[in-house]
Amino acid sequence: MRLIMLGPPGAGKGTQGGMLARALQVPHIATGDIFRQAVKEATELGRRAKSYLEKGELVPDGIVVGIVLERLQKSDCEKGFILDGFPRTVQQAEALEGFLHQEGKELTGVILLDVDPEVLVERLTGRRVCRQCGATYHIRNMPPQREGRCDKCGGELYQREDDREETVRHRLQVHESQTRPLRDYYEKRGLLSVFAAARPIEEVFAAIMEQLGRGRQ
Ligand code: AP5
Ligand code: MG
Ligand code: ZN
Repeated sequence: MRLIMLGPPGAGKGTQGGMLARALQVPHIATGDIFRQAVKEATELGRRAKSYLEKGELVPDGIVVGIVLERLQKSDCEKGFILDGFPRTVQQAEALEGFLHQEGKELTGVILLDVDPEVLVERLTGRRVCRQCGATYHIRNMPPQREGRCDKCGGELYQREDDREETVRHRLQVHESQTRPLRDYYEKRGLLSVFAAARPIEEVFAAIMEQLGRGRQ
């Protein structure tokens, strides 16, 4: 399956994308994670992306597209993939479409997670991420068993630099102006499925699996 997770910051793309990847046995490719890793390792890519991430601006298309198309050519993507956080502009969507066309492949579908902006601010400012394994928590909705520590690996939990309220509000605006047009883009192609995502995590997941024809029998 070749799926795209679409939706505003905090909608649950990472949470649902990770669960889907495990269930469908395909790689979960999250551009935000790729950039954060590059910043942490201080690579050339990290150096170029850092200031955009900190401000909550989009990294320029020219940089992002190259990284993703290279990743999609790795052998583990032959059985499919889940793209999370890409595409984010019409230009990126066109580049992906061109690439897949060239490879003789098609998208299976686009999963849009729909949530009100106010819920998003609460979700993002309360999010904590494991420094070691990347697992995501929420101080109220999904707290770890031991405060500040990852349940899975014991690693330290931290708050993403761009999850401070001011930056969150800016990211939501950037989403409205630059990413929202992708709804129309994929709707016109008959690929868009919209999911109400202000429900418990397991409920959203079950609805997506059902739609993919992988629901519980
Ligand atoms: P990225 O990392 O992709 O951030 P984002 O799109 O802003 O999305 P988030 O990761 O914040 O939210 P999410 O939807 O994954 O939610 P999550 O599952 O964690 O991008 C970061 C930056 O990288 C961008 O600003 C840009 O600079 C750059 N970038 C990345 N891709 C780019 C591209 N293609 N082009 C240009 N630049 C790019 O959930 C959020 C919280 O809510 C968690 O705490 C979670 O536990 C909780 N939660 C999730 N689901 C539920 C639920 N159903 N109920 C209650 N709580 C829930
Ligand atoms: Mg994410
Ligand atoms: Zn961890």
